Amino acid sequence: MVSNIHTDFTANNHKDILNIENTAELLGISTATVRNWVKCGYLPTHSKNNKRFFYRRDIEQTKSKLLNGELEKLNQRANKIKARKIFIPEEYIKNQIQIDKLHPIINFIQINNIEIEPALFLLSLNFLKTEKIFLNINTQDLLKKKKLICTNKQIQKEINSWFPEIKKAGIKKHFSFLLDCELPEHRDVLGILYQSLLFEGKKSQSGSYYTPINIVDNIIKDYVKKDSKVLDPCCGTGQFLLAFSDIVEDPLNIYGIDYDKIAVRIARLNILTKFKSKNFIPNIFCKNTLFDIENDDSKFDVIATNPPWGAHFSKVEIKKLKTIHPQITSFESFSYFLKKSLNWLSRSGTISFILPESILNVQIHKDIREVILKTTQVKKIIYLNRVFKNVFTPVIRLDLGMQNKKTKQTTIYNANKKYKLQQIKWMSNHDFIFNIHTNKFDSQIINKIYQTKHITLKNKASWALGIVTGNNKKFITSNNKKDFEPIYKGKDVKRFILDKPSSYIQFQPEKFQQVAPEEKYRIKEKLIYKFISKNLTFAYDDRKRLTLNSANILIPEIPNYPIKVIAALFNSSVYQFIFQKNFSSIKVLRSHIEDLPLPLWKKSTFSKIIKLVDKTIQNQVYFQELDNYIISKFLLSQKEKTHIKKITK
Ligand SMILES: C[S@@+](CC[C@H](N)C(=O)[O-])C[C@H]1O[C@@H](n2cnc3c(N)ncnc32)[C@H](O)[C@@H]1O
Repeated sequence: MVSNIHTDFTANNHKDILNIENTAELLGISTATVRNWVKCGYLPTHSKNNKRFFYRRDIEQTKSKLLNGELEKLNQRANKIKARKIFIPEEYIKNQIQIDKLHPIINFIQINNIEIEPALFLLSLNFLKTEKIFLNINTQDLLKKKKLICTNKQIQKEINSWFPEIKKAGIKKHFSFLLDCELPEHRDVLGILYQSLLFEGKKSQSGSYYTPINIVDNIIKDYVKKDSKVLDPCCGTGQFLLAFSDIVEDPLNIYGIDYDKIAVRIARLNILTKFKSKNFIPNIFCKNTLFDIENDDSKFDVIATNPPWGAHFSKVEIKKLKTIHPQITSFESFSYFLKKSLNWLSRSGTISFILPESILNVQIHKDIREVILKTTQVKKIIYLNRVFKNVFTPVIRLDLGMQNKKTKQTTIYNANKKYKLQQIKWMSNHDFIFNIHTNKFDSQIINKIYQTKHITLKNKASWALGIVTGNNKKFITSNNKKDFEPIYKGKDVKRFILDKPSSYIQFQPEKFQQVAPEEKYRIKEKLIYKFISKNLTFAYDDRKRLTLNSANILIPEIPNYPIKVIAALFNSSVYQFIFQKNFSSIKVLRSHIEDLPLPLWKKSTFSKIIKLVDKTIQNQVYFQELDNYIISKFLLSQKEKTHIKKITK
């Protein structure tokens, strides 16, 4: 199924090149933070004549991800990662006894400074020995190139083709521990070992978080039959492929692709071992799924995977993607994998993907939502919540079939609830939002609100994150001292106001791990909002106050649209209603805020709102009056208004 189209990524003709200062400015952080993030592998850099530079496109992508919370770990974990580069993917292996068997292996590799590939090679031989495929191996024989006795011809070939590459990196005699140690019991033990050794930074760049076993098994149980032809288009070490092989009888019906060379080697060994009595060459290929496979008319009954989210593309790749999939404008990797998989789906087949919840409602993903609604039947959406140890985003499973005129019902599974919705109604939603938490009445209200003539904050605001000190114990005190000033956390943010401060800091930006340019904090007027929250809470600040990273900053830049009106709208029950129904999120993302309508009301209406905001700042009891005034400005029936109030109470 794989054609040999060679893709050359070396040619670069970028015009927009940034230095470290421009990058800091664009991201709204200090140059020290930029250096820190480069060190951790979070910001892609390039160099020429020993000079480091950045591409604007990369930095813009990082910026939008940052403000959307997708790179939350940048803020929270930069320090931890530096200290501890290895971690065990506990979502993938749950049993503590088995986890305990991993530690000595990982320690041995670390202490002896062994490269990942030779380590994995030796561990693969160990695994094949436990499976009785290789007999009596030791490192001495390996180094002397003695012929190894193997019970499976194809596996022997795989090992023989791998070995010459390994020798360069060096196998030492005393590495024999890796050939003989006890391995944990797990369907994909080599995958676990590989995951545990991959640096966190590299993993987040290629989006390589492997999927917990029960999630994979549930997909397989729902769709795979013994004669199904199945594909994982980014198979990693073969988690899904192994699960497919529990049901699929012919290993040649199991296809996998991944561009990670080591992962593909492991996936091939995994499948060969699973069908060790059969003689076959696995259909698992080391290719770039998005570029190296073209005009392929193979069709599959089940295409299931956890595709990479937010993977990085080079400028050349982006140029190509624009031509291959012009409908996808977000440059989001999971959208390309979905789009590509749709071409491979058989008439009665199913695609089942593990995705971030944001695909359902965040504005930037409206491109793939439109493709989905116009070309597929959304069979199921299952809420899985948080499933990856170090990824904070809630996760869903999205199951799609080919479009079917008769049945267009989607089954939603959320906690213990199961209900059906008509996907057709999402077609008429703005940005094609899949608002799976709304009923017909809710949608009617939201559509009415959006019918009011409005603008939005998209491209009309400046944004900044709060400070990450890198060491709160060192920098933050609970008493005000000389040269210190208050700093506010998410929990201090209340409607229109900030609570009495409980933390103080000396502003020394050069010492902090992440900090916005000072002028963003010191601007004359700004809004401060709670980032982790089920509700919208916006404080108005005209006292140049500092925030920590649980409280973000929004500086609207719309002439003649007063900042206090924006605060009033976003704190009102109408906007809580939109937020809860459309996004149902525990995080207030920039993309959510950019999606909210700013009605183009008369000046006199604005003046009245500002007056009420000022009164509310003085005394919160006036909030009800303000809230009632805002709701009255939308053309809603009494029943609709009562519904909004009831839901947001
Ligand atoms: C999240 S992991 C999933 C692995 C496996 N499907 C699972 O669920 O356990 C994503 C995988 O996509 C691979 N990948 C990322 N971009 C790719 C591309 N353009 N072509 C092929 N594989 C890619 C990574 O190497 C990684 O193994």
